[in-house]
Formats: sequence, structure tokens, C-alpha cells
Amino acid sequence: MKKVASGFLPVIAVDRRAAQPLHKQIYSALRGAIQKRNLSAGEKIPSSRELAIDLRVSRIPVLNAYAQLLAEGFIESRKGVGTFVCTELPGEQLSRPPSTGREIRVPHGPRPLSSNPIPPPFVARPWIFGQGAFAIGQVALEHFPFPTWSRLMARHFRQLQAKFLNFSDPMGSLEFRRALANYLRTSRAVNCEAEQIMIVSGSQQALEVTGRVLFDSRSQVWIEDPSYRLARNALTGTGCEIVPVPVDAEGLDVAAGIKAARRARGAIVTPSHQFPLGAVMTAARRLQLLEWAEHAGAWIIEDDYDSEYRYGAMPISSLQGLDRGRRVIYIGTFSKTLFPAIRVGYIVIPPDLVDRFLAVRHSADLFPPMLYQDVLRRFIEDGHYARHIRRTRQVYQERRNVLVQALKTEFDDSLPVIGSDAGLHLVVTIPRQLSDQEIALRAVESKLWLYPLSAHYLGKRRAQGFVLGYGSAGLPEIRAGVRRLHQLLRKTRRSH
Ligand SMILES: Cc1ncc(COP(=O)(O)O)c(C=O)c1O
Repeated sequence: MKKVASGFLPVIAVDRRAAQPLHKQIYSALRGAIQKRNLSAGEKIPSSRELAIDLRVSRIPVLNAYAQLLAEGFIESRKGVGTFVCTELPGEQLSRPPSTGREIRVPHGPRPLSSNPIPPPFVARPWIFGQGAFAIGQVALEHFPFPTWSRLMARHFRQLQAKFLNFSDPMGSLEFRRALANYLRTSRAVNCEAEQIMIVSGSQQALEVTGRVLFDSRSQVWIEDPSYRLARNALTGTGCEIVPVPVDAEGLDVAAGIKAARRARGAIVTPSHQFPLGAVMTAARRLQLLEWAEHAGAWIIEDDYDSEYRYGAMPISSLQGLDRGRRVIYIGTFSKTLFPAIRVGYIVIPPDLVDRFLAVRHSADLFPPMLYQDVLRRFIEDGHYARHIRRTRQVYQERRNVLVQALKTEFDDSLPVIGSDAGLHLVVTIPRQLSDQEIALRAVESKLWLYPLSAHYLGKRRAQGFVLGYGSAGLPEIRAGVRRLHQLLRKTRRSH
């Protein structure tokens, strides 16, 4: 096997005939050297150009490897000076490479594993843990009412009751679920009683439990295309067949779904704010979807992840509230309205399915932790939650306006913007001949985290563009981000 070795320390051996792509080989070699301290903290590493010449490869794989190391916090670039090994290495959790088994010495003897399907390996693409102007899934933490929250936490511990320390209801605390039911009935027009609500660890666990209750390997399940990748992953264990269904300006194309899989067992939808394209499902489509579900005997999973944030128009009522056949499983989360690390979400379950859901949840993790449930109950009952949503809605609306305006001004209206009426992100599209993933990798070099739109698609027809989050960045950062995006796209277009 011919190896091309570099003259640098540490030796990076690249093998063009290996199955592993070049950028991955370079990335792993550098990362390994940093972790073993063969390259020490603060040490300068060669520029991507020098390394490419030395390894006799094109610059692209080196750039990609550097972008990944940069995003994971192994290296940092100092403008006009060069690229250096970071003085502080990132936490083990985020930096752990996907366990391919290749780098790990495997002990002798058989090590049989389950052949049940599991989700695709977790790969920390640079944009997943992105920060700054366009990071997605992040919120305005600086507007979180920390003093109030701390006071409620302190009160919880001061008045600690035995029931908070013991085993408890697999559905979650009844007092908390009552407060939540009130909120959902009023604000989201959800048809529910506290007894139907199950508290879970975010939408992710909600999707996982729901999938286990409803689907099996004979089930076909419609999924919006494009869609939220983690929703798809949550269903993997069921072995069900995922059927991608296109979305348009009216939301999920129900007729296309029927054509593709009329007898599907279920559909996962984001009707209030399609993820990621942002359409609101029209009333006609909602009725068509419910009617199909009724005829097909199918379930609809409504992922209502950020509908509290809608600008310039009335909030959209839930699909669940329209459902007369009790075929909608409604899922919500506090990840957007409060903060993602809270890991509290909920499922509103049709009454006849509560026992099945409860059995599955109980075997997964018994019951949800009490601490946040008790604090959240008080936070809602004392009016802090409604106030916080009102306040942050204004903050996000201003950020959205500034982002839209900056895109208009900087790009002279030439960059199409979609889905900006609600939520904490919008989408811009770029010509199909450009690769959003390549651009996103290059963008990380200038500390710009862009989530490529094409990564959300399942089918072959993928739009190219970026999902731009505006939840966590201040106005100057958003404006500067748009300027950098413009420079980057101009450079990319010129090189095409
Ligand atoms: C479509 C969609 N559903 C759900 C969530 C929230 O997930 P969780 O509650 O697990 O944090 C997100 C967060 O980004 C999302 O984009």
C-alpha cells in the first residue's frame, strides 16, 4: 500500500486507496496528535496550503479537516498570524469521534451486538455545535430571568418534601401537568386534560416513546422532506419504513403522501412551523391530513416545537385541537421557550393510548426527575412563563427583522429568504449548482456557522441553502454575520 508521508511532525500518512476519505484521515491524524500531546497546546501548525503541498493532496480535504478541528475547538486561527493548537482542549463529550471501532484496540473473542436497526452514527459536523450569528436551536439566554429562576430553585430546596425525593408517577407530577394543561388549552388550543399529558426528557424522548408505541417493522411512516433529522433517528429502532413526503408553501403535500403510501401507519408533521422551511400548514391541508388519517387508520404526530414565536400574526392553533378522531399525538418542548439543557418536553396522548405509553416510558426511565417539574410549575403558575414568552417574542422579532433587512440590503434582494414568519430560524436558498455543505465547511474557518439546508433532505431533490438561526445572537453579530456570508458567497461564485 503506497503511503505519502509528510515531512512535518507529527507524521501524517494519507492513503488514497483507503475507504476513509482524505479529509477524515488528515483530521484523525491531527486530532490524535493533539490528544496525545504530540502537538502541544499553543503550538503553531502548518497553513492548509503548506500542509496540502506537503501531503501532495488538493487543499480541499485539508480545509475540511481544519474546519472540523476548528469547530470542535482543537485548533484556533489567529488572523494574520496562523493556526494554532488550542490551549484548552474541548470536553470529551463533544469531541469524541464516532466510534467506528477502527481507532480502538478491540479485545479478542466474539463481541456480538444487536442486529436491530440503530440510528446513523453521531458525527459532530461543525455546524451542529455552531455558535454565533446563525447557530440553530439556540435561544436568547441573556434574556432568561435568572434571578426569578434561582429564587424558585432555592425555594424548592428550602421546602424540600419527601415526595420530591422518592419514586413517582411515570406520567410526571400531576400538579405540573395541570398547570401545563391550562397553558396548552389556552395558548395552543390543545384539547387535553392533565391525565393525558406525559412529561418526558424533551421532544426527542417524546418521539422515541411514541414511535415504540405506534410503529413496527411493517409500518410505513410519512416524514416531511425536508425534515428534522433527529425525528427520523428517533424512529429507527422501530424498524419502520420512512416515506419522505414533499412539502410546499402549504405544508406537507398530503396528496403526494397518499400517492406514495396510502396505507401508511402514521405521519410526523410540524404544522405550525414546518422544519426547516417554515411553512404554516393551511386549514385545507390540515383537514385533508386528518381525513386521510381517519380513513387509513393512521396516527399523526404533531411536533409543535417553536410555535410560541410567531410574528405579526395570530398564533396558529394546534392541529390536535382540530382532531375529532383522537388520532393526533401532540408533542411540545421547553427547549425553545426556556433553554435546551432543561430537557423537559411533553406528550399529549389520546386517552385510550395512555396505558400503552405509560408502560413503554416506565421501562425506559421509570419517571421524570422532580426538580425542574416543580420549579416549572411555579414558574408557569406565577405568570413568569407567559411574561418570558412575551418578552422573548419581541427580542426574536427584532432579531428576525434585522436579519431579513440585512440580507435584503447586503444581497440586494438576490438571496431568496423563506419561512421568516415564525420561530427562531429562517432559510435562504442558493443556486443548485453550489454545494451548501462545502460552503458551510469553508465558512467555519472564518468562525461562521452555517447549517446546510440540503442536510435535512431525504430524497434526491435537495434545495441548496442555509438554515440561519437568530435566537442567540445580538444585532451587531447578526449584521456582521450577514456581511461575512455575503463575502463568502461572492468568493464562492467567483471560483465557480
Ligand atoms: C423540529 C424540532 N423538533 C423538536 C426540537 C426540540 O427538541 P428537544 O425538545 O429534544 O430539545 C427541535 C429543536 O431544535 C426541532 O427543531
